[in-house]
Amino acid sequence: MIKNNDKNLPIAFFDSGVGGLTVFEKLKKLLPNENYIYYGDTKNMPYGEKTEAQLIEFADKIFKFFEQQNVKAVVMACNTTSAITYEKLKNNYNFRIYPIIQSVSKVIAQQNIKRIGVFATPATINSHAYSKEIRKYNNDTAIFEIACPEWVKIVEGNKLKQPESLLQIKEKIREMEIHNPEKIILGCTHYPYLLEILKQFVPEHKFIDPAIEFSKFIKDDLQKNNLLSDKITEGEEKFYVSSSPENFKVSGSLFYKLKDTPEKREV
Ligand code: DGL
Repeated sequence: MIKNNDKNLPIAFFDSGVGGLTVFEKLKKLLPNENYIYYGDTKNMPYGEKTEAQLIEFADKIFKFFEQQNVKAVVMACNTTSAITYEKLKNNYNFRIYPIIQSVSKVIAQQNIKRIGVFATPATINSHAYSKEIRKYNNDTAIFEIACPEWVKIVEGNKLKQPESLLQIKEKIREMEIHNPEKIILGCTHYPYLLEILKQFVPEHKFIDPAIEFSKFIKDDLQKNNLLSDKITEGEEKFYVSSSPENFKVSGSLFYKLKDTPEKREV
């Protein structure tokens, strides 16, 4: 499929909810003059507990919506769909697609970390996507993968301050500590919202937030392909969600303060 190559078309983002904002706010800082569209599929959240067939259906619908919107690139700011749907869907649309796991694993592998932990959703963990991708570049790394099914709901439900959330997080940290990892990948874009809690148990420098390398990767790739906008004023942004627009604005505010309430749109 021929890809859109008009540099002034928007960049689209998608995730099951507010997780993708942890990537969005970073790319927006690097590329403030781009126009952005963001789709949060809050109605179908959590993605990490869905089947492959469901995830393909959701991603395909959202990609078709982005085709109607005419975008130059789509950022899969969601580890779960990157792990489960990217390989199957990557050639079907008229824009370039950036999947988070595949885009950051090379850089992580090159850091020569001997023992890496991965916290992610059940679907991402069951796919072993991080292990497979990192091992493509470095066979000398032990990788310990732990699923954290409750964590996305803590973030989306704005339950960061509830004692039960602290217990759920602590339990997973204990499970991970047994493996004594040097670094731990936050392998779901919702998890950086939990850093304030996580760092009560593990020093912050031990966590890898893939969004940092991911946003640099996207910028470099757009630049290489002569696809950066040539506008000199700040770009526009438009947010869509499939349910609960107000909740998205509140839960997401820790990472990005939306000017307007997102538009509710089922695709
Ligand atoms: N934030 C997404 C991820 O990175 C999806 C989380 C979910 O909805 O389960 O995996």
